[in-house]
Amino acid sequence: MSLEMMGTNTALGGATKNPNQALWEKGDFTEIAAFMRQSGEAVVESLGVTPPLCALDLGCGDGTTALPLALLGADVTGVDIARNLVEAGNKRAAEAGLKRLKFREGDACNLKGVDDDSFELTLSVFGAMFAPKPFDVAKEMVRVTKPGGHVVMGNWIPNDPTFVSQLLRISSAFTPPPPEGFISPMTWGLESHIIERFGRAGVPKENISAVTDTYYFAHSEKSPTEFIELFERFYGPTMTAVDAARNNGKEEELHNQLVELANAQNKSKAGTFIPATFMRVTVKV
Ligand SMILES: C[S@@+](CC[C@H](N)C(=O)[O-])C[C@H]1O[C@@H](n2cnc3c(N)ncnc32)[C@H](O)[C@@H]1O
Repeated sequence: MSLEMMGTNTALGGATKNPNQALWEKGDFTEIAAFMRQSGEAVVESLGVTPPLCALDLGCGDGTTALPLALLGADVTGVDIARNLVEAGNKRAAEAGLKRLKFREGDACNLKGVDDDSFELTLSVFGAMFAPKPFDVAKEMVRVTKPGGHVVMGNWIPNDPTFVSQLLRISSAFTPPPPEGFISPMTWGLESHIIERFGRAGVPKENISAVTDTYYFAHSEKSPTEFIELFERFYGPTMTAVDAARNNGKEEELHNQLVELANAQNKSKAGTFIPATFMRVTVKV
């Protein structure tokens, strides 16, 4: 399956299998998220939230932003399509003794069971951008957010020279082409698409801001090579590229390109400290 095949449901052996869900459950994003905790906390701090506040974290993974948000006193629901990450998130919440934080399985394209106007804040940091139907995603995020509340997204930017955009570009080059009609998740990093999607969900252009910001992947002990090895073993989109490259005898070529990228972008002498530019989107509902 290519990185891009995250869209439609297909019947496999009688059971309905959602490729988007399969892609993210195939790995274990927790292994990558270990490098994202610092920046996740920084993003949450920068929101300046003042409880009481009901928040949704969409595509929350194991809680990189949901946990710090709950620690600030917000009531947080984390929704993710990957059941293993929902389980990991609930475990982290229990370990932290956070009663105001719950994780549940759900699809950003259709937040069924979530009432209209439920949250003051809908946050999605590199999460909802990976759902296959962007117009439905924008509509759902606006629908579940209270009037006067905010949707905040962090989205990777296409053709950006920094780490994640380049990692996904290299990975895509080793995977089969996407099916016709496929919309790349990276289009969520372009202002024109953001305005069009939220516009169709009823939000005027003047209520939308999109500015670039920097995220850091940080680890004091693990090297950039070890970081890449984690992507190869645990990050669905890179795992897919590795499988395809292996079938074509190009696994080493892919590995070398990814390691070269990580080393070139690393700013730390001892461990890993890799900056990545993203688009920070704020929508007033
Ligand atoms: C790059 S990870 C980011 C996770 C988390 N926000 C973080 O910052 O650590 C992308 C997340 O989006 C989730 N995801 C992908 N498609 C989704 C969908 N359609 N609905 C809900 N979550 C989805 C994946 O399972 C994964 O946890």
